Amino acid sequence: MSEPRVCFVCLGNICRSPTAEGVFRHLLDDADLTDAVVVDSAGTAAYHAGEAPDRRSAAAAHRRGIRLGGKARRFDAEDFDRFDYVVPMDAANERDLLALAPDDAARAKVKLLRDYDPRSPAGSEVPDPYYGGEDGFEKVLDICVAGCRGLLAQVRDDHDL
Ligand code: 4NP
Repeated sequence: MSEPRVCFVCLGNICRSPTAEGVFRHLLDDADLTDAVVVDSAGTAAYHAGEAPDRRSAAAAHRRGIRLGGKARRFDAEDFDRFDYVVPMDAANERDLLALAPDDAARAKVKLLRDYDPRSPAGSEVPDPYYGGEDGFEKVLDICVAGCRGLLAQVRDDHDL
């Protein structure tokens, strides 16, 4: 069986989903599973396509020893063939993904990040930090750590890792 593939999705692919991607890679490294899972991120909108992660997100992550990388891109319908876990940050991202999904198999891959965190009420969102202060970026990191821990546990369970 090939490696499980995870794609985190937000609106712009410069703040929340690159943060979730960096956090998840960090957790994989800690678990000696660096190459055991394919990880990516994308946005439902293309306005920031080609850009590096927002420097406020990168700085907040760096303070915790987490590196953010990649260039923003838009999630497209073919991505449903490339990924097993499609992980939106908020309800708007989730709606946009479900509207793009070609079939039930694709729709079944979509689940909110915080729904992998057993301590979050169902339907909880990762709030968009883009127009707010620095504390919003710290909060996104905390939320991503909790969600990514739950997601990693699920992926390990599903794939005997
Ligand atoms: P993200 O944050 O979806 O977490 O990457 C945003 C980035 C850009 C914008 C909104 C949210 N924007 O409106 O440009």
